[in-house]
Amino acid sequence: MGGKVGIIGAGQVGAAAGFLLANVPGISEVVLVDMDAARARSEAADIAHAAAFGSPALVRAGDYAELAGAGVVVVTAGTSLKPGQTRLDLLAANVGVVSAVLERVLAVAPEAVLLFASNPVDVMPAVAVRHFGVPRGRAIGTGCALDSARFRDRLARHLGLSPGSVHANVLGEHGDSEVLHWSGAQVAGMPLADFAAGMGVPLTSEARESITQEVRTSAYRIKEGKGVSNFGIGGCIARLTRAIVNDEHVVFSTSTFMEELLGVGETCVSLPHVLSAQGASAPFLPPLDAAEETALRHSAEVLRQAIRVGLD
Ligand code: 2OP
Repeated sequence: MGGKVGIIGAGQVGAAAGFLLANVPGISEVVLVDMDAARARSEAADIAHAAAFGSPALVRAGDYAELAGAGVVVVTAGTSLKPGQTRLDLLAANVGVVSAVLERVLAVAPEAVLLFASNPVDVMPAVAVRHFGVPRGRAIGTGCALDSARFRDRLARHLGLSPGSVHANVLGEHGDSEVLHWSGAQVAGMPLADFAAGMGVPLTSEARESITQEVRTSAYRIKEGKGVSNFGIGGCIARLTRAIVNDEHVVFSTSTFMEELLGVGETCVSLPHVLSAQGASAPFLPPLDAAEETALRHSAEVLRQAIRVGLD
């Protein structure tokens, strides 16, 4: 069961994810579903031709019925961010699209782990839990896993390291109120600030502010140049799906529905979760400094409001 993955939405994000998923060990089949069936067929054929150079995965287009037995269903359907919009501007349109998708997915794959990439991504797990009764841990937003990768990439460039050697997360909303968890960042078991100073590239307050802005506005800048942001999120989807399919028990900063966080009720922010074949564990709230805690509470409040407006 675990080796079959469905992707709803064969646009640029779904196609990038499908392309990468075809090469993920442990994935035997990728089914692309789109209301534009011709588009799904063309993307699936193109990806299958690339996969024929060495991937054992079967990649094909299909209808919802063909998601039966999928261990993970990735939801990328909906309208995407246009220049000048924030992710929360997509709330009304995409909650409707994702609700219609869930109706059909859950009819055939009720046990699948749902991984949401449609924006505002943090709100979609709440839709699945509150409106469809999906267990909390089986409805996961890619959330700040992508922002965390952007943070690690940016820090790695500053330090002259590989991103894999930098341990740093972004928490909260996958959007404008996100919180870069500077106080918890580490390299080589050392606090990030100490490591950077020791390397002769201190993280001054100017450097931190500039990195924070760059990470927070990455998608906006990517879209200015190419109109779409697809490979980063495609890589993120592929990595998280791999963790679930292969029962890896790895930790990523993803979003799930929470009854309460820092005094804010019914919200859906990114925090570290352990990902396994069961989906996401309960979230972990790492130690935060006072400013980070205030910022995370604000981010949780932004999403509480979004859930209220989008779902009630
Ligand atoms: C991204 O951050 C648009 O949410 C998408 O790339």
